[in-house]
Amino acid sequence: MEIKSAAVIGSGVMGAGIAAHIANAGVPVLLLDIVPQGAEDRNVLAKGAIDRLLKAEPAAFMHKKNARLVTPGNIEDDLGKLAGVDWIIEAVVENPAVKSDLYGKVDAVRKPGSIVSSNTSTIPLKNLVEGQSEAFARDFLVTHFFNPPRYMRLLEVVAGEHTSAEAVEAVSRFADVRLGKGVVPCKDRPGFIANRIGTFWIQSAVNAAMDLGLTVEEADAVGGKPMGIPKTGVFGLIDLVGLDLMPYIAKSLLATLPPDDAYRALHREPELFRRMIAEGYTGRKGKGGFYRVNKAAGGRVKEAMDLVTGEYRKTVRAQMESVNAAKAGLPALVQHEDKGGRYARRVLLETLSYAASLVPEIAGDIVAVDEAMRLGYNWKFGPFELIDKLGAQWLADALAADGHAVPALVRAAAGRTFYRVDGGKLQYLTVDGDYANVVRSDGVLLLSDVKRASKPVAKNGSAALWDIGDGVLCLEFTSKMNALDDQIMAMAQRAVSLIGDGKGVWKALVVHNEADNFSVGANLGLALFALNIALWSEIETMAERGQQTYKALKFAPFPVVGAPSGMALGGGCEILLHCDHVQAHAETYMGLVEVGVGLIPGWGGCKELLIRHMTEARRPGGPMPAIGAAFETISTAKVAKSAMEARDLKFLRASDGITMNRDRLLADAKAKALELAANYTPPEPVEIRLPGPTARVAMGLAVEGFRATGKATPHDVVVSGELATVLSGGDADVTRVTTEDELLELERRHFMALIRTPGSIARIEHMLTTGKPLRN
Ligand code: NAI
Repeated sequence: MEIKSAAVIGSGVMGAGIAAHIANAGVPVLLLDIVPQGAEDRNVLAKGAIDRLLKAEPAAFMHKKNARLVTPGNIEDDLGKLAGVDWIIEAVVENPAVKSDLYGKVDAVRKPGSIVSSNTSTIPLKNLVEGQSEAFARDFLVTHFFNPPRYMRLLEVVAGEHTSAEAVEAVSRFADVRLGKGVVPCKDRPGFIANRIGTFWIQSAVNAAMDLGLTVEEADAVGGKPMGIPKTGVFGLIDLVGLDLMPYIAKSLLATLPPDDAYRALHREPELFRRMIAEGYTGRKGKGGFYRVNKAAGGRVKEAMDLVTGEYRKTVRAQMESVNAAKAGLPALVQHEDKGGRYARRVLLETLSYAASLVPEIAGDIVAVDEAMRLGYNWKFGPFELIDKLGAQWLADALAADGHAVPALVRAAAGRTFYRVDGGKLQYLTVDGDYANVVRSDGVLLLSDVKRASKPVAKNGSAALWDIGDGVLCLEFTSKMNALDDQIMAMAQRAVSLIGDGKGVWKALVVHNEADNFSVGANLGLALFALNIALWSEIETMAERGQQTYKALKFAPFPVVGAPSGMALGGGCEILLHCDHVQAHAETYMGLVEVGVGLIPGWGGCKELLIRHMTEARRPGGPMPAIGAAFETISTAKVAKSAMEARDLKFLRASDGITMNRDRLLADAKAKALELAANYTPPEPVEIRLPGPTARVAMGLAVEGFRATGKATPHDVVVSGELATVLSGGDADVTRVTTEDELLELERRHFMALIRTPGSIARIEHMLTTGKPLRN
């Protein structure tokens, strides 16, 4: 069965977010809620939810127009409409009686074979289907999304004893391919996987901080990044989700966990937390939490809660040697004798042994547990990957030394590892004590798997080329933050010469990497270094080499497909503008942001964006609207907040593809590359007619207007002026054509003019030291 339509019942935080994300997949969705007593508009709740979705930050919709796919309604008048949908998701209040009553009504109207699932976080599936029809039990499962549904990749799926395999398969496939989720099968146990372990970890991390006398800053400094956990650490995370939720989660777990579960002994409700909740200090949504920004007396003072006195005080940067020691690896951290080291050791011992004790109770294998913690809590490594870093033997010894039981799985792994590579294949330790291959779904191709199984075709300090099969090469950036530099350009050139005419061993190139961000642009540090010693010719060579490399990719006799995810800014955006096709992950954020550092795109970005606007199906009014559109996008450093938005800005073409699931991106890109290679002819260079000075003057006037109203700074005027010159074609006029090479030359000349100005140098320095643009 293929899911083509859906309904979500309950338009609260989760229901609304899930509906928005189904709309992001291009699937129509009905959003129903109750009719509040005396309501004039009977759909007021669902309509209000859609309004809130449209204002949500970060955005719930990948494109505002997706909101049109969400139809608001109510469960009194519109229940009959459920007969027309394939998947009904229940996301009403966490109350078994309310859910059960609703299921009865839904079952009476839904079409046979349609799937019903609950988003419950705590109620066992077997309780939910009690008293429902057999057909209902067959079509029912739990689909546990994480908040916010668009961004959190985990979807826990629980099948009941009677759930049909078809229902599980249909939902899992839809969630994977269309919603882009990492689907993790879980057993019908309290809290499923991620919250079961996550809640335990939070409690462990809080207790240890209090017992060992760490401040919240210290606990988060050591318990965040050094352990591969998001830098919020534990207290920052509680602020984010809300301290008031903690007692609810604890209560529901305590009501359902097995009698001997280790969480029972760990659970505490500190007096301070109770007081904070009672007084409204519940975190970011409340008056503040463990951290707050005190705006009293017109200031902005960052404060933290003192866990001993229960009062706010100015934050103090944590200084612990163990945090530095952690750079040498997790063992160095947990063996460090300062309180940070002791803290890490205790939290990891408790949490990792708990996780190990739960397999196979909560999941069939360790892979599911690791995936759930990575995708649901954004941990860089799952519990079993962390154990491998410490050594299963070390963990067993440390637990025994402290008088704790050693979980069977840890004993089984002692002297070995939970994961290993055998014949280039990643394997994991099963509950039977044997190793089995980690199996990827059809249509999933991971560069990390390729890298594990083979040697690079070529490699230098900033990039590598990989054989991803069937004659396709993959260009991977490997530099710090994927900043673009000469070595990356050299590797791209290398790819061009290796692939040659595309008729030999190699047929096509894919540009892709698995870092959080595809590339945030050129290496500014290198540029500033050259600037400081006035190596102008060096800088000009860098600009020219970038232009020539991107041009070579564009006109190569073989197809080049870009496959970005995350940020693709500046030069990272420009390389994509030169690809024959871009297969973008839905969460790709593209932008030509050079003006933020006082520059203009200098690697063909001005040229490419201008050409896209100019060659678009003829619009009225001559070239000026097209030039104006490119000018606005570049001069205001617009960044698309999704691949769908990137289409509006013409960073992506209508023909470019979007892949919802990151793990499917490379396979999709490779398939497209092969499709193009079958009958490939490179593009012809474009010639356009540009108006020259008249257009420049018009744009200059607009910028002066912004300057007068304070929207543009003095240096913005300078930068916009150079940009206007380039986009209007310099001294061109409409009677003659301007070639791509002429545009590149213009781009370079004005880029070089800007990079010498004190205003731009100040912007670059500021960006490098603070990470933020300078508004000079
Ligand atoms: P919420 O309180 O924000 O929204 C619940 C919605 O259900 C409200 O709009 C309410 O009017 C509506 N509702 C109540 N009775 C109804 C009925 N009989 N028919 C139709 N609508 C009804 O709750 P939230 O946070 O969205 O939670 C919903 C479900 O998702 C719960 O089962 C919860 O455990 C689960 N969940 C919540 C997460 C979170 O982070 N908030 C995360 C994952 C799951």
